[in-house]
Amino acid sequence: MLTTTLGSLTLRNPVLSASGTFGSGWEGRLFADLRQVGALVSKTVTVAPRPGNPPPRIHETASGMLNSIGLENHGADHFLAETLPRMRELAADSGVRVIVNIGGESVGEFVQLAERFSAAGVDALEVNLSCPNVQEGRLLFSTDPRLTEAAVRAVKRAASVPVFAKLSPNVTDIVAIARAAEQGGADGLTAINTLIGMAIDWRRRRPVLARGIGGLSGPAIKPVALRMVYECARSVRIPVIGVGGVRSAQDVLEFVCAGASAVQVGTAQFTDPALMVRIVGELRTLLAAAGTTIRALRGSALPGAAPQELRA
Ligand code: SIN
Repeated sequence: MLTTTLGSLTLRNPVLSASGTFGSGWEGRLFADLRQVGALVSKTVTVAPRPGNPPPRIHETASGMLNSIGLENHGADHFLAETLPRMRELAADSGVRVIVNIGGESVGEFVQLAERFSAAGVDALEVNLSCPNVQEGRLLFSTDPRLTEAAVRAVKRAASVPVFAKLSPNVTDIVAIARAAEQGGADGLTAINTLIGMAIDWRRRRPVLARGIGGLSGPAIKPVALRMVYECARSVRIPVIGVGGVRSAQDVLEFVCAGASAVQVGTAQFTDPALMVRIVGELRTLLAAAGTTIRALRGSALPGAAPQELRA
């Protein structure tokens, strides 16, 4: 009932953690039985360690959150030695997939990361082409179809596992970028990363975040994410992973009807680290009551989808 596929990767259910909102899952294990989720997606890993941006770099907004973390992480060596074994331990014997999100400052760095993590036997790679919080060009990749295609093509050549391209909403036409990623050989798309925004402290007459701008996530962006998933799903043949503002099983099913094959839970986990697991249970109940499955619902709101009767 909950099984879904992302190209050659089968997931026991469509509920994944969103990169950067759940670490590697290690702390989350204290709150919920993570062997119930479909996949754990790591925070972005870069070749070298990164200290991230100076604080303040998180700010709560109405129905959302701004972040300007700046891809803080310990780098690939540390990830392979310390973090990946922990993710594997969390996933052991449960069918939970381990997906590593990679970030490069150049195509060469993406290739290096793809080679190393493929060799380490991760289940899939998510390529972060879309972080808005660094200056070295990641956002640039996902705002230009040619750069997107070239980066994805190079990663695909280097990788022996499925490759999902994470797209930015900060573009006029996400379909052009989605098609470029497909053309480059992506096995799937993740849509969407955060929307660039800012907050102002009027008494200080300064932006709240030290870097000025940041990425908006949370329920405020769900309608934008749904629209972009819908547009991507009706324009490409590869699977789409939806992400943006998910707080409930209902939200997951909305993304599935818009064409998502799987859905990531992000910002809501900061206040409710057991949410993913609860959503899996709620999905089971809702689908059983409606007499349908994730596969049957997928894309059912897209133009031309066959009509289907739901029980309730
Ligand atoms: C960050 O670390 O700045 C957030 C990651 C992202 O938006 O891709």
